[in-house]
Amino acid sequence: MFDTMTLTKATGALCGSLLVFLLGGWAAESIYSMGGGHGDEHVQGYVIDTGADDAGAAPVDEGPTFAELFAAADLGNGERAFRNCAACHAVVKGENKTGPYLYGVVGRAVGTAEGFTAYSGALSAVVDVWTPEELNAFLENPRGYAPGTSMAYAGMRKAQDRADLIAYLQSVAN
Ligand code: HEC
Repeated sequence: MFDTMTLTKATGALCGSLLVFLLGGWAAESIYSMGGGHGDEHVQGYVIDTGADDAGAAPVDEGPTFAELFAAADLGNGERAFRNCAACHAVVKGENKTGPYLYGVVGRAVGTAEGFTAYSGALSAVVDVWTPEELNAFLENPRGYAPGTSMAYAGMRKAQDRADLIAYLQSVAN
């Protein structure tokens, strides 16, 4: 029924409209994501709620999440990263230094290292249990996370190092 020419035209038309469709979608999306003045209700219009806790549009260019880094953690690198902590912390039960011992700290209630009497109270004011996620937030910026903490440590910038370090601490205690 179709000669080659008709078929070619039909295919061309199909590709053309597909392209227009894609471009249209792309343009619409850029307009929505530009909409600083339009408020969140527009953004909410096309974001599918996955139950995740991030409100509004998903962040762009954020790299892997903590959970992803943590799941693929490099314990050797975590042990190296612990050098940043070793002046004040040991991973040995009961061995308190300037800071409390970190043996079993992952999953431990905040401020409960036995025999450590120098807690400032700033940590337990913001968190109850040291989950990997809470440790990640604390170690990134200790004083931002818990204002008034007596832990004189500026913070570990690399997300990969934090995830590796937390996995290392967890592995030592298990
Ligand atoms: C200069 C000393 C110092 C360094 C370096 C340091 N800490 Fe601390 N750390 C402390 C002190 C002091 C506290 C108690 C803080 C408070 O009560 O406010 C503390 C508390 C903590 C706690 C809370 C423990 C608990 O029992 O609730 C964790 C977890 C922790 N540090 C992890 C680390 C890690 C991991 C590093 C390395 C990346 C590190 N710290 C580096 C001194 C230090």
